[in-house]
Amino acid sequence: MSYENIVFEVKEEIATITFNRPKALNAINSALLAELKQALDSIEENEEIRVVVLTGAGDKAFVAGADISELASFSPLQGKLFSQKGQAIISRIQALPIPAIAAVNGYALGGGSEIALACDFIYASDKATFGLPEITLGIIPGFGGTQRLPRLIGANMAKELIFTGRLVPAPEAAQLGMVNKVVPAEQLMDKVYETAKAIAAKGQVALRAAKEAVNHGLNTDLVTGLAIEVDAFTVCMTSPDAKEGTTAFMEKRKAKFSGKLSG
Ligand code: CAA
Repeated sequence: MSYENIVFEVKEEIATITFNRPKALNAINSALLAELKQALDSIEENEEIRVVVLTGAGDKAFVAGADISELASFSPLQGKLFSQKGQAIISRIQALPIPAIAAVNGYALGGGSEIALACDFIYASDKATFGLPEITLGIIPGFGGTQRLPRLIGANMAKELIFTGRLVPAPEAAQLGMVNKVVPAEQLMDKVYETAKAIAAKGQVALRAAKEAVNHGLNTDLVTGLAIEVDAFTVCMTSPDAKEGTTAFMEKRKAKFSGKLSG
């Protein structure tokens, strides 16, 4: 499948998905969703890829939400199917075995914020703006925003943002705990790739175990979460990466991880 609405690149173990409909501020239509799904398939099938970065083409938008011109023509059933499909595809970003970083370079509104929220963490340009403005259109967030935002910033703050549709500048989004780091626009991609490379150099078994433990643990109670952590920790302890990492520390050298599950 060729890509028209996204750009998909892999370089030095890091995949980058760039939403690429700049004339419509990278709004998500059905074709873009299908291409995003295809890119996620390619990432899952390629063990060489260690981190994925998601960003938007141009300097104005990450993604300005679902394509309103398409939404406007949907029947209720088509709307339901669009929400289900969007949720399923965006949830796959969260479920990827490798870390996903959102590099938010401009407007991340509606479905755009929802994509960023499904990533493991967000770096944003100082020109970025977040928000779930769907209420202004007479609808609600349909790609996971009513669920992921309250889990991240708390129910009351999320409800205020969802009920008012207020747009939130990146520094405020950072204060709310949505964004890990705000950087000058021209430095955004350098900072994101710096962190992506640092993560890619770590042991793959441990990285996957860490992501799985946090994600699964958050969906359960503390006691079950702690048991999940024990299992994930044990998997790491059986891996050659654990042997290498601990030996390298004792030998005062840098670890060379193989990422293999067993020796
Ligand atoms: N869908 C379709 N087209 C969009 C779009 C969207 N979500 N957002 C922007 N565009 C288009 C505009 O129609 C415009 O196209 P034309 O040049 O052909 O007129 C172009 O992108 C540039 O946009 P503006 O002229 O509006 O740019 P601006 O700088 O004046 O405003 C903005 C920027 C504040 C982001 C404004 O475009 C805006 O409010 N966009 C809509 C944001 C929104 O409501 N998103 C939620 C969508 S619903 C959703 O996402 C549901 C869900 O959960 C799945």
